[in-house]
Amino acid sequence: MESVRLISHPLVQHKLSLLRDKSTQVIYFRQLLREISMLMAYEVTKDLPVTVRRIETPLQNMEAPFIAGRKLCLVSILRAGNGFLDGFLEVIPAARVGFVGVERDHDTHKPRQYYLKVPPQIEDRQVIVLDPMLATGGSAIAALDLLKQKNVSKLKFLSLVSAPEGIAALQNAHPDVTIYTAAIDEKLNENAYIVPGLGDAGDRIYGTQ
Ligand code: PRP
Ligand code: URA
Repeated sequence: MESVRLISHPLVQHKLSLLRDKSTQVIYFRQLLREISMLMAYEVTKDLPVTVRRIETPLQNMEAPFIAGRKLCLVSILRAGNGFLDGFLEVIPAARVGFVGVERDHDTHKPRQYYLKVPPQIEDRQVIVLDPMLATGGSAIAALDLLKQKNVSKLKFLSLVSAPEGIAALQNAHPDVTIYTAAIDEKLNENAYIVPGLGDAGDRIYGTQ
């Protein structure tokens, strides 16, 4: 699985275990997800290209490294992707943000698109697509299809918990996109939920179950 990067940092794994626990309440769930996002943001941006610019320190001039190119763009898959946004923006405050509204049909588990808004010049930016859950892969594939229709080519996909089925489907549909995830769980159940998973991420973030 060359295009999959498993984020196994103990802090991420510890916080993910707390998130999975069904007794973890909304307020604590949000806080943990925000903390995890900051740690995952660090991992997913490790290979951003840098360039040097001449600056003056109080002591002398130097060639100092800065991130190269246009501001990067985060794209949240609504709703649950928004759970990743606060933490990411804490560490990358100048990032641009886009939104893809995709919702799984409860019976067919197929994605239905209902919203799309992305920043200007997105085709020139490194784009990181955010969604805590990669289950069948339908929502991720639909979001990446939409972004590629807008000529985006520098794409990464970040999930917190993934199913092997979703990873395989996403790799098959978008082999050029690296997937970052903190866990590859056992399987999908008959309702296409990830097991053991953490339940419905959107419901747990927003208290809608
Ligand atoms: C969840 C999750 C993903 C999707 C994953 O969203 O946040 O977007 O399911 O499932 P898939 O890989 O099988 O497509 P959901 O459709 O429940 O919408 P919500 O975030 O608005 O609750
Ligand atoms: N969406 C979720 O939020 N959780 C799952 O396990 C599957 C899809």
